[in-house]
Amino acid sequence: MKKEDLKHGLEGVAVAISSISYVDGEKGKLVYRGFEIEDLVENSYFEEVAYLIWFGSLPNENEEDFIKSMLSKKRNLPENIVEMMRLFPENAHPMAVLRSVVSMLGMYSKEDNSTLENAINLTAKIPTIIAYWYRIKNNLPIIYPEEHLNHSENFLYMMFGELPEYSKCFDKALILHMEQGMNASTFASTVTSSTLSDIYSVITTAIGTLKGPLHGGANEKVLEMLEEIGDIEKVPEYIDNLIRNKKKIMGFGHRIYKTYDPRAKILKKWVQEISAHEKVDFFDIALKVEDVVVERFKDKNIYPNVDFYSGILYNHFGIPKEFFTTIFAMARIVGWTAHAMEYRKNNRIFRPRSIYNGPKDLKYKDMKGVEING
Ligand code: CMC
Repeated sequence: MKKEDLKHGLEGVAVAISSISYVDGEKGKLVYRGFEIEDLVENSYFEEVAYLIWFGSLPNENEEDFIKSMLSKKRNLPENIVEMMRLFPENAHPMAVLRSVVSMLGMYSKEDNSTLENAINLTAKIPTIIAYWYRIKNNLPIIYPEEHLNHSENFLYMMFGELPEYSKCFDKALILHMEQGMNASTFASTVTSSTLSDIYSVITTAIGTLKGPLHGGANEKVLEMLEEIGDIEKVPEYIDNLIRNKKKIMGFGHRIYKTYDPRAKILKKWVQEISAHEKVDFFDIALKVEDVVVERFKDKNIYPNVDFYSGILYNHFGIPKEFFTTIFAMARIVGWTAHAMEYRKNNRIFRPRSIYNGPKDLKYKDMKGVEING
């Protein structure tokens, strides 16, 4: 293999055939199983869209009852795990906790667990892990799941003991994060699945990959940046400084979208609507950051991505910034598991190549420098 064969970051390489979602990076479109994301957020809620992604069509009434009951009955964690979580260091990052607890759950399951039922079971438990950690870390009593609440309401209830005013908006934000083709965490988890490993290993891989700031971890970094800027007047200088130092501006740019990310557009509109009624912290600074970044990068087509406005919304709900990426994971597990199962139907282990540029034919010498068999 030659250097010319290298596809840095696998840009432009297709690794699977999939009917789960379609991203049109030129037109800024995202489609789940044939439906445009705008229609889904307008008309559906988390459970319906999860069903769509897993099963390929929107649910009828019986199917809706089935998915709601599957997702609401499996929320509890084994008590031993909750006890172990109480021993975790209180400053452990929520993504590290989520990754570790998902991995621990694998010890409570039979090894042959890569079925849709197991995927749904794990999806049901992720919000519980996140909310329990929030409560444990803050020395608050745990709030157990409530079966009569839907997936997103139950999460907010377990976090805060009540439902914030804009909880429907939170549910819709989960829909926006649910699926996005062969992104880094979906690819990583599909690789793990392609070895016929178990679903807990698959999702542990995905969470570890999502955590990085170039991927899902960007939402936390965006809020850090907005806090650091602190004042709308300081935006141009702050951004120009990042550009001068060749630093990435978090929440901007995308491998596929070369226009406005449709998810960012929807999130921005919601934040705009909320801010018409009440103050939304950091929104004015964020709008200015967007103006400056888009202007500075007008030749490179760099626009806000999904991670730019989502954190402002979560912050408005009272969710601490270090929890933002766990919210992303709570939604994206649907896409991860759908892809892992789809790929399994025509499975082949992933085994790419690297292009060797190290030395060859070296003579082996012992520690004293004496050539062996020389
Ligand atoms: N800030 C400054 N410059 C940027 C940015 C940015 N956010 N994004 C891209 N560029 C520039 C980059 O420097 C490069 O310039 P040049 O051609 O002169 O070297 C050009 O645009 C192409 O960028 P790239 O890094 O080669 O693009 P990529 O496809 O490898 O990376 C990305 C995509 C999302 C990792 C990158 O845009 C980035 O680091 N963004 C900031 C982190 C972020 O917001 N991540 C969330 C991604 S969307 C949701 C998700 O997947 O979680």
